[in-house]
Amino acid sequence: MAEIRIDKYLSVALGISRSEAKILLKNGKISSDGNIITKPEIKVDEAAKVICQNQVLSYKKYIYILMNKPEGILSASTDKRVKTVIDILPEDLKRTGLFPVGRLDKNTTGLLIITDDGDFGHRVTSPKSLIEKRYLVTLDGIVKEEYISLFENGIVLSDGEKCMPAKLEIQSGNTAIVTIREGKYHQIKRMFGTVGLGVNALKRLSIGKLCLPKGLKEGCVCELNSEQIQKIFQ
Ligand code: URA
Repeated sequence: MAEIRIDKYLSVALGISRSEAKILLKNGKISSDGNIITKPEIKVDEAAKVICQNQVLSYKKYIYILMNKPEGILSASTDKRVKTVIDILPEDLKRTGLFPVGRLDKNTTGLLIITDDGDFGHRVTSPKSLIEKRYLVTLDGIVKEEYISLFENGIVLSDGEKCMPAKLEIQSGNTAIVTIREGKYHQIKRMFGTVGLGVNALKRLSIGKLCLPKGLKEGCVCELNSEQIQKIFQ
């Protein structure tokens, strides 16, 4: 196991700044494997038993959070005016460097991943990744069978940009499931715009084989384990 500075360990494990960690250390609140540590530069093993005021801590280099994004919340790390997906995280999951992996529009709901692992974020959002994303779409008109082949052949957006082949599964008169492998700006809305339909509601159901858990209410989150993370790339 790797060794890391105790102030970094505390800032990751507790979601606090390094200077806040230094105060805890200075006040004798931190022990590692039974020894009180007061100096921020002391290194501890990642697997050491670190205790802060009777709470046993655990160090994870990165965190992966699945959120059922609610409507009206911005997919961004910070914003001066509007609440972001980072603002609404439970306090115990907050730490520095968190960001949403890809963007959902403000009024889109559903599966959003939040992490502080930049490489992972890049692997998921890179145009080369070709990871499937499924959306449930409610439209302001009837979805016609003939749109299936239009989507399959690659919709040409109003600005002339061509989309990759997409799968359109009609659910009922005005609802459909769309699967895309890319993430152009407002892509689903613009794809339906080309056939004269407006999107009334949009919900992301899955990324790769990772699905939005059925019982997870809007605004709620769960931490992902490595098995679940791997499903994204399957
Ligand atoms: N396509 C859209 O138009 N909006 C989203 O939020 C996601 C995909």
